[in-house]
Amino acid sequence: MTVRRKLIAGNWKMNASFASNEELLKGLSAGFQQLCTEAGKESMPDVLVCPPAPYWAAVNILLEGSGIEQGAQDVSEHAKGAYTGELSVSMLQEFKLKHVILGHSERRRDQFQTDRLVSLKVAQVVQAGMTPLVCVGETQAEREQGLTQAIIKRQVLSALSLLPVDFDGVVVAYEPIWAIGTGLTATPEMAQEVHGYIRGLLEQRTTHAHALRILYGGSMNAQNAKALLSQPDVDGGLIGSAALSSSDFLSIIAAAVARNP
Ligand code: 13P
Repeated sequence: MTVRRKLIAGNWKMNASFASNEELLKGLSAGFQQLCTEAGKESMPDVLVCPPAPYWAAVNILLEGSGIEQGAQDVSEHAKGAYTGELSVSMLQEFKLKHVILGHSERRRDQFQTDRLVSLKVAQVVQAGMTPLVCVGETQAEREQGLTQAIIKRQVLSALSLLPVDFDGVVVAYEPIWAIGTGLTATPEMAQEVHGYIRGLLEQRTTHAHALRILYGGSMNAQNAKALLSQPDVDGGLIGSAALSSSDFLSIIAAAVARNP
């Protein structure tokens, strides 16, 4: 059986300032070090924070030597050129960023990102040797109409459609839209049902499906993290509001520490 190291990623969205970043990351780094000492490095989940781009340089300095990594919230599908307001893969690489969230429902909704556009971004990121965190998820109305699997299937297969056969190094994040920022969370059983379904979709595309991580996102917090992370196909979390408090985020990280029986 493959053991997938858990991944706990914080999506800060449009929340940051030099002062609040420093406070948050100092607390997070110290707490993370303490957990490492208590649990042992090999039992720790991978931890990632994704701040807004203007803070990448300062965050790199704050995270130096901490073992916590920094990722981006989106990236252009183009390599360079006349694309006002966009950021390229090579810019992320100059800041040593290896992970990037793609197809977040807020980008799909507010920037009108389509499945096709997300697939171009995913291909660009994988080709650069970086890891995309590909977000998928249904609305409340779609769930009520029994369309959850159809929506997830379309989004997952489309996002991966331009990747070579047997691709590796992709993370999928199941983020039911009705659970994002609402305080409503999928129950562990609901999350597992969709994650298991996503695993099956990945198996159609790559022999590495068993090794790929599938994260849950949507009001994950210190209280519900442990039950969600105990599900066999929930390999971590993509966390919004609870990632803005070092103590809340640390509680989620602690819930992801692998405990040997
Ligand atoms: P919340 O944790 O605030 O619900 O946000 C989840 C999310 O959108 C992470 O990408």
